[in-house]
Amino acid sequence: MKFINLCLFIIFITNFSNSSFSNELNIYSHRQPYLLKPFLDAYTKKTGVKLNVVYASKGLAQRLASEGKNTTADLILTVDIGRLYIYKDKNLLAKINSQVLNKNIPKHLRSDDGTWFGLSKRSRVIAVSKSSIKKGEIKRYEDLADPKWRGKVCSRPGSHVYNRALMSSLIATHGFDKALEWARGFVKNLAKRPQGNDRSQIKSIYSGECEIVIINHYYYGKLTYSDKKEHKEWAKSARIIFPNQEKNDRGAHINISGGGVVKHSKRKDEAIKFLEFLVSKEAQKLYGDVNYEYPISSKFETPKKLKALGSFREDKLLIEEIAILSPKAQEIIDTVYW
Ligand SMILES: [Fe+2]
Repeated sequence: MKFINLCLFIIFITNFSNSSFSNELNIYSHRQPYLLKPFLDAYTKKTGVKLNVVYASKGLAQRLASEGKNTTADLILTVDIGRLYIYKDKNLLAKINSQVLNKNIPKHLRSDDGTWFGLSKRSRVIAVSKSSIKKGEIKRYEDLADPKWRGKVCSRPGSHVYNRALMSSLIATHGFDKALEWARGFVKNLAKRPQGNDRSQIKSIYSGECEIVIINHYYYGKLTYSDKKEHKEWAKSARIIFPNQEKNDRGAHINISGGGVVKHSKRKDEAIKFLEFLVSKEAQKLYGDVNYEYPISSKFETPKKLKALGSFREDKLLIEEIAILSPKAQEIIDTVYW
């Protein structure tokens, strides 16, 4: 752990040592560098602005808070509303009023005080074994608690932000008690102790260990279009289901990648311009091309390869609700040992 901290510190020094230049922006990112690079390159090419990134999977909000007014960071980028909301909660983000951001991002996917903005969408979907689960047998998240599926369901641990967000959405829909009941049924159906990441859930369908799993949709895209033969095989063994799609149902649970401008940034105008770039036609297409994520608004076109994975109707729940309900969701997850 200490070693990791040291590495992060070194990256920090390396990246931000020339941060006083006005045509540079400094980004704190929870998004992995290879996912960000195409966006950074495109922006630098367009504007000449150099983008320095500090990447870490944890601890950036704490770092930003401790740096206070002395920070050289201008922007934060992250995935999951739960993580994004922490920055707002700690009062680390500037309030922005940008017509471009307001116009291009649907209201339920950005904060009402202009602190954080959704930039792309991902759906938490159900993947099932093509060979053992018939079409139409599972249609809703709620179905996963049906005793019929005892010993067939797999998932990564409930405490992961992706699952916690899904749990929040179930609380928002059904209330705490019913959501808890669902979680009990779901955990009873597990084939094994929750483990691995989303990708490995698909692998477990291929190996026959599991028949029904929960994943973020883009992992299925990554495996389907992977250069590796084995990944394609894993994907081929599974079918994805966008849940809760029937006419009167609420739609599939979604989450966002997003960002905001740092409250104590010395280059707020430049930072806003970069966020605006991220909701341009060019960048919105990149989200699909690079990581099979859906554009933040239906006004942008979905790239062909992504379209081929299926289209869906999303749950229009105010995304902020997911973050607000997060502690309650964790309480359920702990109670049922998910
Ligand atoms: Fe992910």
